[in-house]
Amino acid sequence: MKVISRAPGKLILFGEHFVVYDKTAIVMAIDRYVYSTISLRKDKDIHINSETLGVEGVFSNGKYRPRKGGMEGKEKLQPLMKCINAVLAIYGKRVGLNIQISSDIPVAAGLGSSAATAVSLAAGLSELLELGLSKEVINRLAYESEVMIHYTPSGVDNTISTYGGLLRYNKGWKNKIRRLRIKYDIPLLIADTGRPRNTGVQVSIVRSIYNNFPKLFLEILRVYDKIYRNAINAIKKRDLKELGLLMNINQGLLSAVGVSSIELDILVNIALDRGAYGAKLTGAGGGGCMITLVDKDRAHDLEKSISKYCKEVLFVSTDNKGVTAKIVK
Ligand code: MEV
Repeated sequence: MKVISRAPGKLILFGEHFVVYDKTAIVMAIDRYVYSTISLRKDKDIHINSETLGVEGVFSNGKYRPRKGGMEGKEKLQPLMKCINAVLAIYGKRVGLNIQISSDIPVAAGLGSSAATAVSLAAGLSELLELGLSKEVINRLAYESEVMIHYTPSGVDNTISTYGGLLRYNKGWKNKIRRLRIKYDIPLLIADTGRPRNTGVQVSIVRSIYNNFPKLFLEILRVYDKIYRNAINAIKKRDLKELGLLMNINQGLLSAVGVSSIELDILVNIALDRGAYGAKLTGAGGGGCMITLVDKDRAHDLEKSISKYCKEVLFVSTDNKGVTAKIVK
């Protein structure tokens, strides 16, 4: 018997970085997933093969034996072990596991693949070990793994991957999330710069602006707050023109705090030049992906113009389910 779980990636429409400073982000789960296939072993070893990270190895009696990716693989898999051990601590018994991880979310591109991996593992293990963990607990366990990777994550990535849909997220709110229910798919095109980036590094770039110019930074946060409030209205009214302009202003603020990049700026400018309503980086920036709001009938022309300047163009829809797990005989 094995369990297959899947957890969606995400797009931050508004508020990356500012969400770390208690502002509200608008975030959407996408129909791109991390898949974990998990089964029990007869021994007590934990065997992980992550196609996504290009790493395979066995954790056995506190030691790591690499199968692919050398000893460096241990560091990459350690955050996943944190999540696995947390679930096993709830189970109360040590068991051996075979874990296979695959994904169609580009890695280190701002689309939430690391959080989705942890979420899919926590949900898959809960199903395999018949723990019946709630989404709230799965989300909390996945957050622990995110802390190991990004040090001070806001929790937005694991939360959207757990619950799915279109959410407002504020780490200061008691329940952290409020669903945003709309009856249409926001028409977005994603372009991956192909330049990998590190969320922790990007967050520290913003932190240094905050430390050097605290008053100025607070003004930026205040402006962001206005963008957020207007964006909620524009989304509800389905006013794509206004929504696009707000994305552009948000992109300006992200540039101001140092997290855009030459590749992102090029993609944003091409998109706007070719008639998109708006464009901005999504996720941590410094590389990774750009999102642009563009009418469906213009999207394929834009794809043609943009594809020579990026690694990949993706079209996505909203995932409304969040993480799921099922037993396969
Ligand atoms: C990364 O997807 C989003 C950031 O805001 C970091 C975080 O919220 O933890 C850049």
